[in-house]
Amino acid sequence: MTRLAFMGAGNMAQAIIGGLLENGFDAADIWAADPVESQLAKLKSLGINTTTDNLDATAHADVIIISVKPDIVEPLAREIAPVAAGKLFISVAAGITSGSLSSWLENPSVVRCMPNTPSLVRKGMTGLFASSSVSSEQQQTANTILSAIGETLWFDEESSLDAVTAVSGSGPAYFFYIIEVMQLAAQAQGLSQKDSRQLVLQTALGAAEMAVQTSDSAGELRQKVTSPGGTTAAALAILKERGLETIFADAVSAARKRSEELSNI
Ligand SMILES: NC(=O)c1ccc[n+]([C@@H]2O[C@H](COP(=O)([O-])OP(=O)(O)OC[C@H]3O[C@@H](n4cnc5c(N)ncnc54)[C@H](OP(=O)(O)O)[C@@H]3O)[C@@H](O)[C@H]2O)c1
Repeated sequence: MTRLAFMGAGNMAQAIIGGLLENGFDAADIWAADPVESQLAKLKSLGINTTTDNLDATAHADVIIISVKPDIVEPLAREIAPVAAGKLFISVAAGITSGSLSSWLENPSVVRCMPNTPSLVRKGMTGLFASSSVSSEQQQTANTILSAIGETLWFDEESSLDAVTAVSGSGPAYFFYIIEVMQLAAQAQGLSQKDSRQLVLQTALGAAEMAVQTSDSAGELRQKVTSPGGTTAAALAILKERGLETIFADAVSAARKRSEELSNI
């Protein structure tokens, strides 16, 4: 039986715990540690074991999920290092390398992952990397845990997580921005704010759902709805002419570069 302990009971921990419970994981096998009692109250009401003592929670578990803000990871890891032997550690902290975490914990079994905000509604996309000491059974355990908040994708090279950060980690904000500017464009055409919101959100949802459900590529789907000389063609011509492809390539490249810089601090 796998027993889990979450270090930090904030947004990400609560999202993963919620998904695990929905998937039938037993609340009695989950511990959550956080310095703030009020943060633990909701989890306690769900039957989760709660404590303000990180060492106590770690000692009870086989798998520890580090879900504190990145600047807290080092002191937390050094604090729990004395009881870390033989356990698997999964970190969701952005920018903290598996090498740093392993050395602070004095334990080599580390899975580093990069989830994204839609995890909070179980529609997340998580990129994962396992250090060489992680067994295939431990990797499967990590996969089951992160699958509770959406889809997972493993990478052989830890450096790939910088590109993952630039694409799916920061990606929700790119789509939020597109939704935002499309709503403004709709309002500029005389539609109300409420109507613009509904039209744009349902269109974004429908387009994403269609792209997921079909084997057609996004390019093929676009071509299918673009009649020569039609309305869509008129709009796409402007997007192409103004360089949307280059804008996105440069934006994602800038995010990757920033992720690399933050990991090296
Ligand atoms: N949220 C996302 O969508 C997202 C996406 C990708 C990656 N991440 C990563 O996930 C991690 C957690 O993010 P989050 O959004 O869940 O943050 P959060 O809501 O702030 O949760 C962190 C929790 O840890 C607690 N904490 C602080 N110091 C602690 C300590 N020494 N021991 C135990 N717990 C402690 C915090 O308490 P206080 O509030 O009192 O400080 C807070 O309740 C971050 O490293 C972030 O990079 C998050």
